[in-house]
Amino acid sequence: MSTHDLYTIPSELSTWDVDMAGASRFTWEYDEGRDRMLALYQKGKDKQWDSTKRIDWDLEVDPYNVLGIPDTTIAIYDTPLWHRLGPQQRQDVRLHGAAWQFSQFLHGEQGAMICSARIVESVPDLDSKFYAATQTMDEARHAETYARFLQEKVGLAYPINEHLKSLLDSTLGDSRWDMPYLGMQVLIEGLALAAFGVMRDITTKPLPKQILAYVMQDEARHVAFGRMALRDYYKNLSEQELREREDFVIEGCYLMRDRLRGAESWEHLGLSKAETDEVMRATDQSDYLRLFRSLLFSRIVPCVKDIGLWSPRLQQAYADMGVLEMAGQSLDALMKQDEDIADKLDEARFAEEEAERHAEVADTIALGSA
Ligand SMILES: [Fe+2]
Ligand SMILES: [Fe+2]
Repeated sequence: MSTHDLYTIPSELSTWDVDMAGASRFTWEYDEGRDRMLALYQKGKDKQWDSTKRIDWDLEVDPYNVLGIPDTTIAIYDTPLWHRLGPQQRQDVRLHGAAWQFSQFLHGEQGAMICSARIVESVPDLDSKFYAATQTMDEARHAETYARFLQEKVGLAYPINEHLKSLLDSTLGDSRWDMPYLGMQVLIEGLALAAFGVMRDITTKPLPKQILAYVMQDEARHVAFGRMALRDYYKNLSEQELREREDFVIEGCYLMRDRLRGAESWEHLGLSKAETDEVMRATDQSDYLRLFRSLLFSRIVPCVKDIGLWSPRLQQAYADMGVLEMAGQSLDALMKQDEDIADKLDEARFAEEEAERHAEVADTIALGSA
């Protein structure tokens, strides 16, 4: 089945063209490069994995409860609208919510692949080009993984959310080489990483857990890359240039907080305009989603501070959004934790397989000696 058949809302075209902006830049300096950047490149090469082998695709997924989480995580849970819905409509709400969420992850991963390829082209230093080339491969593997998950396990997909699309458009349409970093590595990846993290930690289902944990293990390197490259570069920018970057960050953060809400999936379920408004109000008021939205900034805020975009204006914007205290999060500790969780999951899985193998061997020996 082609992905086209899985789309709930048919897209008119099967491709989206964004005009190229800025130069493709060669460098003739093949010298050593920065130690930390090269160490990250080495890690990027060492830690490649193959989703066809590392992920256990035989595991079953219930499309009507993909993550195996309670209904209290649904925006309209226990509202009058929820009580008006019949059992089948509630099933649809569960299915379409997950399909929308994982579809945005998928499109975001493709965006990340294209942005990192763009960084390979446009960044001036060779060590950064090398690193971004490994990231391009990482993102290809992530897109492959989420596409398979949607196709084989969920069976339904949503087109890219128009606000995510416009953020990608302004990220890629800018000729300044640092903008794909800022838009993708810091904002979109920061948001995605936080969302993956919440889901990885609450899911009770082994397949999404594996996918989210392994993808996050790679994302930790991507964030480190953005921080390293931008921290060096932003030290030397003028006040005006920094201000332009801050404006971009502020606007992007408001957009991600207020608009990436999946209104289209509710409209698709046949809710009226008034009912969709009811959903959006419930989204504002739901305790779970409030917590979720503030957690979404747990990676972005400390990163923005770290790269040196930390004017009083920006701090004020984060204070207005209620996420300023996220600046105290330690990115290094979060990333270390992401890597450990993936490693531990591997250990637990392989210990289980090992035990099964031992049991098989013991059975065979017992058969032989009988
Ligand atoms: Fe990714
Ligand atoms: Fe990434």
